[in-house]
Amino acid sequence: MAGQREQNLAVVGAQWGDEGKGKIVDLLCEAFDVVARYQGGHNAGHTVRFGDKHYSLKLMPSGILHPGKLCLLGNGMVIDPGALLEEIESLRGLGVQIDSNLKISDSAHCILPYHKALDLAREEAAGAAKIGTTGRGIGPAYETKVSRYGIRIADLLDPDVLRDKIEFACAEKNPVLQTVYGKPAFDPQALYNDYARYGEVLAERITNGAVLINDLIRRGKRVMFEGAQGTMLDIDHGTYPFVTSSNTIVGGVCTGLGIAPKHIDRVLGVAKAYTTRVGGGAFPTELNDATGQRLRTRGNEFGTVTGRPRRTGWLDLAVLRTSVMLHGLDGFALTKIDVLDEFEEIPVCTSYNVRGERWTTFPAFAVAHHDYKPEYRVMKGWKSSTVGITDFAKLPPAAKDYVRYIEDETGCTISIISTGPRREETIQRT
Ligand code: IMP
Repeated sequence: MAGQREQNLAVVGAQWGDEGKGKIVDLLCEAFDVVARYQGGHNAGHTVRFGDKHYSLKLMPSGILHPGKLCLLGNGMVIDPGALLEEIESLRGLGVQIDSNLKISDSAHCILPYHKALDLAREEAAGAAKIGTTGRGIGPAYETKVSRYGIRIADLLDPDVLRDKIEFACAEKNPVLQTVYGKPAFDPQALYNDYARYGEVLAERITNGAVLINDLIRRGKRVMFEGAQGTMLDIDHGTYPFVTSSNTIVGGVCTGLGIAPKHIDRVLGVAKAYTTRVGGGAFPTELNDATGQRLRTRGNEFGTVTGRPRRTGWLDLAVLRTSVMLHGLDGFALTKIDVLDEFEEIPVCTSYNVRGERWTTFPAFAVAHHDYKPEYRVMKGWKSSTVGITDFAKLPPAAKDYVRYIEDETGCTISIISTGPRREETIQRT
């Protein structure tokens, strides 16, 4: 798949997020004119290493690091304008050019401070049942969107509408925060002042995202759709309720940008060579032992956004097959294979035993009662360094077997293998 002149490509997470999408988008970006995000907000965290510099991207598509690429924040996103402006400033501080190359859909929804306060208060109140969110207000902002009382990016440009909407929201959210959760109320006037200013600063970037992207597609421009989070965090198809509040799967591209399915020509799923997840919820191949700790240390598995240690475990083929199905994947990019370099044996979950029945996709229905057991095949480790290898033929034989086994079991080609964090530490198979 790599090297092909595909028209429009979606790059999506095939596990629970943090698969290394940032590096892959950055790597493939050159062939595209536009990079667009379709869901999520600054709960996402992409780390891209470029030369000596280390960029941490949250709201920004990874294409922003490449001069001449138009980046679009789509209508399916929830955007904290304050966080956006901070990110713009910090990237500019690293020499990244951000001017007319960044556009924001006028129909994206805003995250306000009461969303963040509600997110944090709920998590605190839920105790052991908490979701383990990133605490950025994502869930409450999507709730307000669906309730139809949300504040959209376009509203930032209309002082009367903005004032009315903020007052209405505070009249509802403040009593909940105060009475239910014992938290302080927000002053609508102060919020209005901040958000009206955000509107002024962002005005030149605000546009009808659907019209913009469809016009670019019609003119033959190539678009990369950049997913955030991963398949198993999808609000409909993931490990509910331990999910994020948007459609992370490729179907979200259509609604989150306003384009028709026929414009998504190919879909690339990014998967780590093992599995991680942050926050609560089912993780059947999790390793709560020294091996899990070893994966965490070797893979530097700490969240980009929150710094939380990630939960770690072996590769789960049922998760990957579920991703192939839900996204219609055309290929995988397999990342962090080098993290497995020193393991003697590498178990891979091939399927689940669900009350005597073999399941080869993720048994999400069983999450509530955990009445399922992962079944493993133990692969031989390669016990030698794969760091920086750029040619598939040069991989140790056991590492090749590992790659081919995943391909055989998922029915999907692995077109890219990442052997280190840098752009050049990559195998591209044609
Ligand atoms: P929220 O998106 O902040 O509401 O968090 C909901 C769940 O999604 C939690 O388990 C988070 O840890 C997880 N999550 C959200 N964004 C990311 C991400 O970018 N990578 C990995 N997990 C994420």
